[in-house]
Amino acid sequence: MLSYVLYALVIVIPAIFLAYRLYRPFTPSIPAEDSKKPAKSIMQPPRDDLLPPKDDPFTTEQLKVFDGNDPSKPLYVAIKGDIFDVTHKADSYGKGKSYNIFAGKDGSRGLGKSSLKPEDAVADYSTLDESERKVLDDWYSFFCKRYNIVGRIIDGPNIDP
Ligand code: HEM
Repeated sequence: MLSYVLYALVIVIPAIFLAYRLYRPFTPSIPAEDSKKPAKSIMQPPRDDLLPPKDDPFTTEQLKVFDGNDPSKPLYVAIKGDIFDVTHKADSYGKGKSYNIFAGKDGSRGLGKSSLKPEDAVADYSTLDESERKVLDDWYSFFCKRYNIVGRIIDGPNIDP
C-alpha cells in the first residue's frame, strides 16, 4: 500500500504537473508599452503643418487643369466642393496612378460609394444613402487632416450638407 502512495508522489504528480505546463492554453503576454501603441496604418499619418483653408473660387472647368496630365502643375482633388492640394501624393493621384480618377475634379459620389468607376467620379452625391454619406464624410475629414484646402468650386451642384 505504502509503495502505491510513494509511486503516486514521486512519479504521477510530477508527470501531471509537467504535462500541464507543456499543454496549457497559450496566452501570449503583451508588453505594457506595446499594448498602448495605436495600430499601424497603411494610410499616411495626419499632418500638423497645414495652412489655413483658402476659398479661392474655381469653376469645374478651371479645376480640370490640375488632373495630373501636366506634371508641372499642382494636383487637386475636390470633395463636397472644397479643393485639396494633393501634389505631394502624386504616387496616388498622378497620371496613371490608382486614384487619378479623382484628380482635377470633384468625385464625391465615387468616394462615398467606394467606387473607382469614371461614371461615379462626379460631384453630385445627393443620391448617396446614409452609410455612403458617412463614408464620404470620413474621406472629407481624412483629407482635411492631410491636405491644404486651396479653394472652392463655385459652379458645383447645390446639395444640402
Ligand atoms: C482592392 C481594393 C483597394 C485596395 C487594396 C486599396 C489600397 C489602398 C492603400 C494601400 C492605400 C494607402 C496608400 C496610398 O495612399 O496610396 C489606399 C488609399 C486610398 N484609397 Fe484605396 N484601396 C482599394 C480600393 C479603393 C477604392 C474602391 C477607393 C474608392 C474610393 C479607394 C480610395 C482610396 C483613397 C481616396 C485613398 C487615400 C489616398 C491618400 O490620399 O493618401 N481605394 N488604398
